[in-house]
Amino acid sequence: MENQIVQPIHVVRSKARVQLKGRQPDAAALLEVRALIGEAPLEGHRRDLLIEHLHALNDAYHGLFERHLVALAAEMRLPMAEVFEVASFYHHFDILKDGQTAPALTVRVCDGLSCALAGGQDLLQRLPALLCRDDVRVISAPCIGRCEQAPAAQVGQMAVGHATADILVAQVLQKVPKTLKNEQNKPYPTVEWSYPAIETVAYDDYRAQGGYGLAAAVVNSEVDSEEVLHAMESAGLRGLGGAGFPAGRKWRIVRDQPVPRLMAVNIDEGEPGTFKDRFHLERDPHRFLEGLLIAAQVVGTEAVYIYLRDEYHDGRRLLQRELAALLADPPCPLPHIELRRGAGAYICGEESAMLESIEGKRGEPRMRPPYIAEVGLFGRPTLEHNFETLYWVRDIVEKGPEWFAGHGRHGRKGLRSFSVSGRVKEPGVKLAPAGITLRELIDEYCGGMAEGHTLYAYLPGGASGGILPASLADVPLDFDTLQPYGGFIGSAAVIVLSQHDRARDAALNVMRFLADESCGQCTPCRVGTAKAAQLMEAKVWDADTLDDLALVMGDASICGLGQAAPNPIRCMHKYFAHEVGEGPWPGDLPHPGGKGAAAPGAASTTRPELAP
Ligand SMILES: Cc1cc2nc3c(=O)[nH]c(=O)nc-3n(C[C@H](O)[C@H](O)[C@H](O)COP(=O)(O)O)c2cc1C
Ligand code: SF4
Repeated sequence: MENQIVQPIHVVRSKARVQLKGRQPDAAALLEVRALIGEAPLEGHRRDLLIEHLHALNDAYHGLFERHLVALAAEMRLPMAEVFEVASFYHHFDILKDGQTAPALTVRVCDGLSCALAGGQDLLQRLPALLCRDDVRVISAPCIGRCEQAPAAQVGQMAVGHATADILVAQVLQKVPKTLKNEQNKPYPTVEWSYPAIETVAYDDYRAQGGYGLAAAVVNSEVDSEEVLHAMESAGLRGLGGAGFPAGRKWRIVRDQPVPRLMAVNIDEGEPGTFKDRFHLERDPHRFLEGLLIAAQVVGTEAVYIYLRDEYHDGRRLLQRELAALLADPPCPLPHIELRRGAGAYICGEESAMLESIEGKRGEPRMRPPYIAEVGLFGRPTLEHNFETLYWVRDIVEKGPEWFAGHGRHGRKGLRSFSVSGRVKEPGVKLAPAGITLRELIDEYCGGMAEGHTLYAYLPGGASGGILPASLADVPLDFDTLQPYGGFIGSAAVIVLSQHDRARDAALNVMRFLADESCGQCTPCRVGTAKAAQLMEAKVWDADTLDDLALVMGDASICGLGQAAPNPIRCMHKYFAHEVGEGPWPGDLPHPGGKGAAAPGAASTTRPELAP
C-alpha cells in the first residue's frame, strides 16, 4: 500500500519539454497575441511584464503554444530563448507543441504534508479513473495554502477545501460537462458545493471605521515619520515572512539609501503549512494596504509591487477589486501600485527570487551582497516585506507599541498568526501570543488533539523548520527559541503529527518538496535535495552519506532553501533515529501505527494507519 504522506514520484508535476526552433512568427499567432496583450507601444512592451503576458496566453489557451511564444518574443523584441527560459521555469506554465491538444481543465490535488495526512494521495490516485477522460488533467501540486481545509485541491482556478472525490468530479462536470457513471455504475450525483462565505471588510466599511486615517495623517505630515519608526522599533515587530529581521531597522536602512527607492510585498506564501496571509487578506485587505501606504511614505518608496501567489485566484480578484476602490477614491496621494501574479514556484517567496520574478525573469535567488535594501528591484534600493508584517503596522502605531509588545508568553513579546494544521481538532489560523508552547497552542487554541490522536511530533516552521518530538512540546514558539533544538519557527506554520504518523514520512515528504522546488541554480541544493530524497526512501538510512549531503547543502547553497534543507535530516538523526534503523524503538514512546505496526526501523513503504 502507498504511504499516505509521501509525494508520489510517478505523478509528474513539471511541464513537457519541447524544442523550439528559431523561426518567424506567423501572422495569425501575432494577431492572437496582440488581442491579449495589446499592440506594442513605440518603445516596445515592458520587459518586466513577460510573466503577466505568459499568464494571459496560458489562461486563454490552457497552455503556451510554440507559435504564441514565437509571436510573443517578436512582439516583446526579446530573443526566443529568453521567453522560453522564463516560461519553462514556472510550474503553472505548460508549454505545448503546435497541434498538441491542451487539456480542457486541470485539477491540482495538493500533496503537501497536511493534505497528505488527510488523504490527499487517495484522491490523487482515484480521480483519473473516476473522471475517465483525457481532456481533464489531474496532477499533484505542492502545498496550495489551504492546509486547514485538508485535503485541498484546485479545479481550474477554483479552490476546493475538504475535497472528496464526489465534490471534485461534480465540479469538473460543471465546468466541462459529460455524462459519467460512478463506481457503482450509476450516473454521477449532483453534489452541491460552494466555498464557505467569508466576511471581507470592504473599502467603504474600512474607511467608515476610521481606516486610512493614519495613512493620510502620515502622508500629510500630521504624524511624524520618526514617531512611526519609533513605534515599530519599540513594538519589536519582526518580519513575519520567516527570517524575522526587525521591521523598524529595515525601514531605516532602506530610507538611508539613495532615491528612487521601491517596495515589494511578498504574498507568495508557499511554505507548506502556511496560510495566514491568505486568511488575513480574505478578511481585512485594507489593514494590510494601509500598512503598505504608511511604510511607503516613511521609507519614501515611489512605487510598490505586490507579488501574490497564483494559487490564490480568489485573493487576486479580491485584491484587484479593493485596490480599484482605493485608487478610485484615495484617502491621500498614493504611490504607484502594481499587483503581480506568481506562477507556481515556491522559490519566488525568497526575496531576491521574487524580485527577479517581478522583473519578468526566472525566479532564481541572487547572490548577496549586495543586499536588496541597496540593490533590489530594477537595481534600486528596495524595502521588501511579508504581507503580515505590514498588516500590523496600523494597529501598532494607533494602539501603541506597548499593545503589541504586551502580548507574549514565557518571556517573549508580540503576537503571531500561527497556521496550525495536521492532527488537531480545530486547525486554522490562531492569533496567539509569541512564545506560546505547542502544547498550549493545541490545548487552548485548537480544541486539543483530533479524536484518537496523541501528539508524536511537530513541524514548527513548515518544510524547512525541522521536525521536533512531542517531548519538546513545552518549548516557547518564537524566533530564536527553537534553533538550539535544530528547528526554527519561520512563518509559524505548525503541522502536528500523531502516533499514527511517522516522522520519517514527513521528512521524506518535505525533502521531495524541496527537491522539486529547488531552482537548480547551485549544485549542492539541486543535486543534494534530490539525492537526499532518494536516500531517505531506504528502510535503514545511510546516515554517513546523508550527513555529508546535509553538510554540503547547508554550507554551500546560495539561498535559504538549500541552507535549511538539512533540517529534516538532522532532526531525524537527533530525535527519530529509531524510525530509520539507527536505534531501538524507545519503550516510553507510543509506537506510530499502534498495535500491529511495522517493526522498529521498518521502511515507510508501508502505509501508517490513517484516521483523518
Ligand atoms: C525558500 C524561501 C522561501 C520563502 N518564502 C517566503 C514567502 O512565501 N513569503 C514571505 O513573506 N517570505 C518568504 N521568505 C522570506 C523572504 O525571503 C523574506 O525574508 C521576507 O519576505 C521578508 O519580509 P519580512 O521582513 O516582512 O518577513 C522565503 C525565504 C526563503 C529562503
Ligand atoms: S539553494 Fe537551491 S533554491 Fe536556492 S539558489 Fe541554490 S539551487 Fe536555487
